[in-house]
Amino acid sequence: MSTERPWQSVGLLLDAARPERRPLLQGALWLVAAAGLEVLGPILGKRYIDHHLLPGRYDLAEIATLLATMLLAGWAATWIRYAQLSRMAGVARRSVLRLRERVYAHVLALPMAFFDRAITGQLVSRVTNDTEAVNQLYRQVLYVMLDSSIVVAGTLTAMAFLDWRLMLIVATLVPAMVGIILGYQKLSAPAVARTRQLRSDINAQMAESMAGMAVLQASSAAGRFAARFESTNAEHRLSRIAELRANAWLLRPALDLMNVLLLVTVIYSFGRRELVGPLGAIEVGLLYAFLSYIARVVEPLIQITLQFGQLQQAMVAASRVRKLLEEDDHRSMDAIRQDGQPITQGGLRIHDLSFGYDPARPVLHHIDVSIPAGSLVGIVGHTGSGKSTLLSLLLRFYSAQQGRIEVDGQPLHAVPDAAFRDAVGLVPQEPFLMSASVHDNIAMGRPGISEAQVQAAARAARAHDFIEALPQGYATRLGEGGARVSTGQRQLIAMARALAGSPRILFLDEATSNIDSATERQVSEALAALHGRVTVVAIAHRLSTIRAADQILVLNHGRLQEQGTHEKLMALDGGLYRRLVELQTLEEADSQDLSRAPQAG
Ligand SMILES: Nc1ncnc2c1ncn2[C@@H]1O[C@H](COP(=O)(O)OP(=O)(O)OP(=O)(O)O)[C@@H](O)[C@H]1O
Ligand SMILES: [Mg+2]
Repeated sequence: MSTERPWQSVGLLLDAARPERRPLLQGALWLVAAAGLEVLGPILGKRYIDHHLLPGRYDLAEIATLLATMLLAGWAATWIRYAQLSRMAGVARRSVLRLRERVYAHVLALPMAFFDRAITGQLVSRVTNDTEAVNQLYRQVLYVMLDSSIVVAGTLTAMAFLDWRLMLIVATLVPAMVGIILGYQKLSAPAVARTRQLRSDINAQMAESMAGMAVLQASSAAGRFAARFESTNAEHRLSRIAELRANAWLLRPALDLMNVLLLVTVIYSFGRRELVGPLGAIEVGLLYAFLSYIARVVEPLIQITLQFGQLQQAMVAASRVRKLLEEDDHRSMDAIRQDGQPITQGGLRIHDLSFGYDPARPVLHHIDVSIPAGSLVGIVGHTGSGKSTLLSLLLRFYSAQQGRIEVDGQPLHAVPDAAFRDAVGLVPQEPFLMSASVHDNIAMGRPGISEAQVQAAARAARAHDFIEALPQGYATRLGEGGARVSTGQRQLIAMARALAGSPRILFLDEATSNIDSATERQVSEALAALHGRVTVVAIAHRLSTIRAADQILVLNHGRLQEQGTHEKLMALDGGLYRRLVELQTLEEADSQDLSRAPQAG
C-alpha cells in the first residue's frame, strides 16, 4: 500500500467523468468569466483613487458608474460561482453513480477464487465509502482547485499589466506553494493510506461479528471481539491524528507566513521607490490595487493547499477502487470463449481432470466420468474428499489445471455465459437467502417468471406447505441470511429456487442433509420425477437420497475410487461405499433404539 502512487488513479477518475466533458468545459469557461469580473474590482478601485480621490475631482455621475460596475461585477461573479458549484455537484453525483455501478458489476463478475481471498467487509467498504470519497473529490476538491487556479492566473495577469516586476515578486508564491505541497504529501500520504485501510478493517470486523453473532455470543467471545475492535479503532484514531498533524503544521500556517512575507516585500519595494523619487499620485492607486490582488492570490492558493488534504484522501480511495477494478474478471485461465452453443441436452463428460485451489496441492486427481443427459448421479465420500470442489469445476467457478470437461460434446467453457447460467441450477451446501420475500427468493429476479411457476417450483421442492404456513405466505420477508426459517426450510427454498429456473442440469450439494426423513423421501421422489428431463448431480452424505441413482461416484482423497449403481457397489466386497452404507445403517438403528428406549423402560 505504501509503495502505491495514488496519482496513478487519476485516469480512473477522469474515466468516470468522461461523459460529462461538456458540462465540465462549460463550467470552466464560466469560472474564467467569474475570475475576469473579480479582477476588475481593484482596477476600478485604482481608477477611483487615481482619477477622483487624489485629484479631489468628485464627478458624481462617473463615481456612480464606477461603483455600480464594481457592485454588478461582484454580484455576477458570486452568482456564476454558485451556479457552477451546483453544476459540479451534479457532475460529481452522476460520476460516482457510474463508478459505483461499474465497481459493483465488476465484483459480481469476479471469479470465485477472488472471493476465497477477499474479506467481505472490506469489499463493501470499497464499493461504498471509497466511491463516496471520490464524490467529495469531484464536488469540492476539483471545483475549488479549478476555480482557485483560474483566479490566481487571472489575478497574476492583471498584476502583470499594472507592474510586471511586482507581479514577479508575488509569483514566487507559486513555486513556494508547490514545495509546501510536496512536503505535505511526503509526510501525510502514508498516514492517509493507513487510515483508509484501518477504516475498512473496522467495517470488516463489524460485518464479520454480525454474521457470526450466534457463535460469538455462545462462545462468550464478545469480550475478545470488543477488545480487538477497540484496538483497531484506537489505531485508526492515532493514524488520523498523524494525518491531521501534517495538515496543522504544514498547510495553513506555512501559507499564512508566505502571505506576510509577501506583503512586507511589496510594501518595502514601494518604500524604496519613494526614497528614490517622491510618491506620485499614480503609485498610491497601484499600491491599493496590488495589496488587494495579493489577498486575492493568497486566499485561493491557501484553498488549493487545503484541498490537498482531501485530494490525498480521495486519491487513496480511488486507488483502492482501481485495484479492485483491476482484479482480473476472467473466470479462468482458459478464459470463457463464449463461442459455443447453449446447453440443450445436459450430458457431461469429464476427462482426466486434476485440480487444486493451490496448483501445488491437488484436491482432485485424474477424474474420468461420463454423465448421460437426464441421468441421476450421486457423489459420496468422506469430508474433504473433493465433492464440492468437483461441483465447483462443473459450475465453472474454477478451471482445472489438467484435463477437460465437456457438455453436449463441446468444451464446458465454450458455452456463452448467460446461456450457461440459464441452463444450470445449484442448491449449495450453505444455502443463501436474501433479505427479500420468499417469492423473490425463489424467483431470484428471473425475468418473466410467474407466480404460478414460483409455486410450482416450491411444490416440487416440497416447500409449498411450510411457505403457506408462514405469516404472509409467499410475501413473507426473510431476514438477512434467512433468519426466520429453519435450516432445513432454507434448503427447501434453495431447492425451489434452483427448480424455478427450469435447469437442464441440476447440482445439489448436501441438499437433504438438514431435512427430516419424511421430507427427504419426498424430495428424492421429486428428483426422481426429473429423470430423463434434467441431469441431476447430487452430493449426499445421506446415502438413501441417492440410492436410486443411475450411477454413484465414490470419492476418496480426491480420487474416483468406485463407480456404479447402488446394487453394484454393494456387491463389492470390502468396498468403500458398502462400508459407508453399513455404517449409516448402524447409526440409524442406534438412533431408533434410542428413541424407543424410554417406551421400553
Ligand atoms: N476455497 C478453497 N480454497 C482452498 N482450498 C479449499 C477451498 N475449498 C475447499 N478446499 C480444500 O479442498 C479439499 C476438498 O474440499 P471440498 O469442499 O471439495 O470437500 P467436500 O468433499 O465437499 O467435503 P464436505 O463433505 O465436508 O463438504 C479440502 O481439503 C479443502 O480444504
Ligand atoms: Mg462439500
